[in-house]
Amino acid sequence: MPIEKTEKIWMNGELVPWDEARIHVLTHTLHYGMGVFEGIRAYETAAGPAVFRLTDHVDRLLESAKIMMMEIPYTAEEMVEAIKLTVRETGLQSCYIRPIAYYGYGEMGLNTLPCTVDVAIACWPWGAYLGDDALSKGVSMKISSWVRHDPNTMPPAAKTTGNYVNSSLAKVEALKSGYDEAIMLNPQGFVSECTGENIFCCRDDVLVMPPLAAGALEGITQHAVATIAVDLGFEVRPDMLTRSDLYIAEEMFVCGTAAEVSAVNSVDDRQIPCPGPKTVAVADEFAKAVRGQTDRYKDWVEHVG
Ligand SMILES: Cc1ncc(COP(=O)(O)O)c(C=O)c1O
Repeated sequence: MPIEKTEKIWMNGELVPWDEARIHVLTHTLHYGMGVFEGIRAYETAAGPAVFRLTDHVDRLLESAKIMMMEIPYTAEEMVEAIKLTVRETGLQSCYIRPIAYYGYGEMGLNTLPCTVDVAIACWPWGAYLGDDALSKGVSMKISSWVRHDPNTMPPAAKTTGNYVNSSLAKVEALKSGYDEAIMLNPQGFVSECTGENIFCCRDDVLVMPPLAAGALEGITQHAVATIAVDLGFEVRPDMLTRSDLYIAEEMFVCGTAAEVSAVNSVDDRQIPCPGPKTVAVADEFAKAVRGQTDRYKDWVEHVG
């Protein structure tokens, strides 16, 4: 789906016209994949557009940078304000937000320490990442032949641009094979996550999610969904999952900022009841929470002013 243009992109402290937000072909990160980024959503609420868990996303961006030994030249507060400003500038009530910090033009070679760090923030309208039917009909999953990074190969806890080469290989393989999305196993053979989502698998009435040690990104949606599920009275447990656990799941869903809560209808052609009752309950509550409709979760929505 082509990106829908908005007016301005924030680049190193200035709002520049969308078509002028360009970088040089010798930009360091383009060559070596050492950038950090976030995927965030703003939703329409009764009090105007609000960004879901903005501070948590900015904190994760800065933590990703710390892992990569990258010095972002803005504080968390400055990043939060810059993102709010960029959203306001679009005039959109809801949008996807992509902040990225990257090594810019000027140095080449693998020593990143002398490189300058550039920061950009773009916003645009983006619908349901896994399709409009992803909750009602579910998505089909393929266990990828590509293995998730070993934590000593690439840091799964960092949302680093280079990590997504692995995700893209798995995504394209799944699509070419006729599935909607891929599930990644870690080098030990346990389920870690999907190419851009965390996974919940219901077994014996418990919503099981792979622990961080399985090599997943610490999803902000995963945290929100787990909180909502517990508040709804469901048992949630982090635990290792094998591919067989997935095949015989009572229900399953994946979640992430882009995909929100999407039901899973099959894994490697084994049908899964879909959408399951827990999936629907959690998805409904999540949809209200992000729009600021639930008092209990009102701290999660940060108005752009
Ligand atoms: C690999 C991966 N796992 C999980 C997630 C879900 O994270 P979040 O809910 O914070 O968007 C994402 C999306 O950012 C992702 O790219």
